[in-house]
Amino acid sequence: MSPASTDQITEEAQAIRSDAFVEVNYNDAIPNNVDLASDRQLLRALESWHPNYIDWWKEMGPEGFQNAEVYLRTAVGVDPAGWAKFGYVKMPDYRWGILLAPKVEGRTIPHGKHKGEPAWQEVPGEYRALLKRLIVVQGDTEPASVEQQRWLGATAPSLYDMRNLFQVNVEEGRHLWAMVYLLVKYFGKDGREEAQALLERRSGQQDNPRILGAFNEATPDWLSFFMFTYFTDRDGKMQLAALAESGFDPLSRSCRFMLTEEAHHLFVGETGVGRTVEATCAAMVKAGITDPYDTDAIRKLGVVDLPLLQRKANFHMSVTRDLFGSEISSNGAEAFSSGLKGRFNEANIKGDDHQLQDATYQVQRVVDGALVWEDVPALRSINSRLLDDYIADCQGGIDRWNKIIEKAGINFRITQPHKGFNRRIGEFGGHKISPSGELMSVETWEASKNEWLPNADDMAFISSLMQPSHEAGQYASWIAPPRMGINQQPVDYEYVKIA
Ligand SMILES: [Fe+2]
Ligand SMILES: [Fe+2]
Repeated sequence: MSPASTDQITEEAQAIRSDAFVEVNYNDAIPNNVDLASDRQLLRALESWHPNYIDWWKEMGPEGFQNAEVYLRTAVGVDPAGWAKFGYVKMPDYRWGILLAPKVEGRTIPHGKHKGEPAWQEVPGEYRALLKRLIVVQGDTEPASVEQQRWLGATAPSLYDMRNLFQVNVEEGRHLWAMVYLLVKYFGKDGREEAQALLERRSGQQDNPRILGAFNEATPDWLSFFMFTYFTDRDGKMQLAALAESGFDPLSRSCRFMLTEEAHHLFVGETGVGRTVEATCAAMVKAGITDPYDTDAIRKLGVVDLPLLQRKANFHMSVTRDLFGSEISSNGAEAFSSGLKGRFNEANIKGDDHQLQDATYQVQRVVDGALVWEDVPALRSINSRLLDDYIADCQGGIDRWNKIIEKAGINFRITQPHKGFNRRIGEFGGHKISPSGELMSVETWEASKNEWLPNADDMAFISSLMQPSHEAGQYASWIAPPRMGINQQPVDYEYVKIA
């Protein structure tokens, strides 16, 4: 049995999916459900961006597999029983389209100063710059992750995993299209310039990097990829969910559809880590090893020891938490008050007025060398709240990983480090805080950090495990096969036909 409690994940996927069925016109050069054919100017602008996008994909997309036939899903239709079709596609031929969730008639702005007014169908002039910035920052993360992951095909632990990687990659490409559509349609010349710049920044590049820190980190191996899709794509989920509450209706509708795809990325991350945990536990049990800290013996079995998994998780969690920005932020307040970006699940939050003029929120801070909780105006702590919601949202998968460990009878638990651990941005930035939440000196931190974050030995060991496993039905030693294949295909299906 795969660890990944697929039922629960599917549930999560469907909850976000339910309102997102769309009629897509695939006869057009750019598949869409936004009646592109009727807007010649927009169509021309997108048609001139398209070849640049393809050039970017060929240069920065999955290295070495552009001619492979990949069993991919493409969003196609309106039927709740199947909004996607599956088939072999060469990635550069993937039909990247512009898909918006259906318009909700009579929708009003759910929060902020304009709460209750009709949702904007055009850019509200007074918030133009802020709105454009929100779209550009979101848009920038999409190609960034494709760039970060472009070397991974060569070391895929199975064709099933390789296919999932490429699925995530093409969908991040589609998310870029979604944001570019908004820029080009609603922001004129500036928007077209921003759309071009999205193809020019490069993850990790010194002189023209991606906008946000975590998207300039390397994704050097598959464990990093799974941690990234579990923890960092989950930041994507939270940001998209907050933007899905936007009073700017086209942004809301774009993000609602993107969330349907995001659910699969989270699934890839959760099951990827879960199957890694499963392989480790199975190998330990088979070898009669009960001590999870008997690292040398465990690594000899060709699996990843659990303390190393914890260190990897610590790294990805802390870097991703920085993506939420400063906990206390006037930009965050402005994005909410203006109605451009809501809270997670804004529409379902009970018991407040969704304007938050007088409300407060508890934020943990470092004051005079101590961690304290303070009541902060709720508007200024919007980012802090989204981060707290994110941390809560991370826990489900971690609990399911721990169940696998527990079932194997091994005494170990994966936990989330304190919110302030290893942070660069916000209230905890510049402070040294242990995973258990102890504020400490730089010296104490330095003496212990190799126990808390992946060290050079760890990374070298992970890298030694990254041997390709590219025969149908073959899985690398360090990862268990999935319980089910994709689209009800068997786990030994030839998910990628390598050219
Ligand atoms: Fe995305
Ligand atoms: Fe994603």
